[in-house]
Amino acid sequence: MPLAEELNELRLEPCGSPHSETVHGAKKLGASWEHKLFFPTRVMTAHSDDPSMLDGLRQLFRSEDRYRDAKFAEIADEENMMDYAARYPAIAMLKKFMWDGMVSWLRAEDITGEFVVQVQVFSNYSKKGAYVPAHNHEAHVSGVYYVDIPGKCTNDIFVQGDSRRYWAQDPGVLILHDPRFNSSLVELANNTYVKMFPRSGMGIIFPSYLWHSVTPHFEDQDRISIAFNFIIHPKARFAMPTEKLVL
Ligand SMILES: [Fe+2]
Repeated sequence: MPLAEELNELRLEPCGSPHSETVHGAKKLGASWEHKLFFPTRVMTAHSDDPSMLDGLRQLFRSEDRYRDAKFAEIADEENMMDYAARYPAIAMLKKFMWDGMVSWLRAEDITGEFVVQVQVFSNYSKKGAYVPAHNHEAHVSGVYYVDIPGKCTNDIFVQGDSRRYWAQDPGVLILHDPRFNSSLVELANNTYVKMFPRSGMGIIFPSYLWHSVTPHFEDQDRISIAFNFIIHPKARFAMPTEKLVL
């Protein structure tokens, strides 16, 4: 039997349009399916271009050589900009901004209880051509604040699309990858990635398990962002004794 004769045809039109579904080869039985949206991924953004914070952060990057190091990603796990919050009040301001976002994220996820929170902050200082491979963070809630995004961007902040749009060579873009493992292999709804075209002054909060990457930028001006990791322990568990292990 030729393959074509084994195939059913399905035509889908936008909901609400007449004949929104036409099926050939299968009889509709009239059952209605209840929809559940399990495992959605909450991503939040906010904007703050408070000049005392932004100017303070730019001053920090001008003053502290190590934060302009091209090896920023390699040393990220050893760094915590919170150690310099007393010297640079802008760090404390930014921590408050991102902390509020983290709390809002937890509340929206119906998370309640008493916790102990570790805050790790590190710089992403990208010179022309720099990029960040796909990764996730060893934390619970993570975030990024964009201090300086060089160049003019006319794209929407968030873009989803088909596989052609995915492979388009967009510079300086944060790509959030679908946490549904291998979902891109069966993509029909064009929703297995999000490209974020950030602006200076924007913050983004997302669950730390969410894989993400940053494409290279090609502007002469450096691209500066600051990443946050919130490691959140239930207070009762945190009170358990710890032992040191050296291997
Ligand atoms: Fe990251």
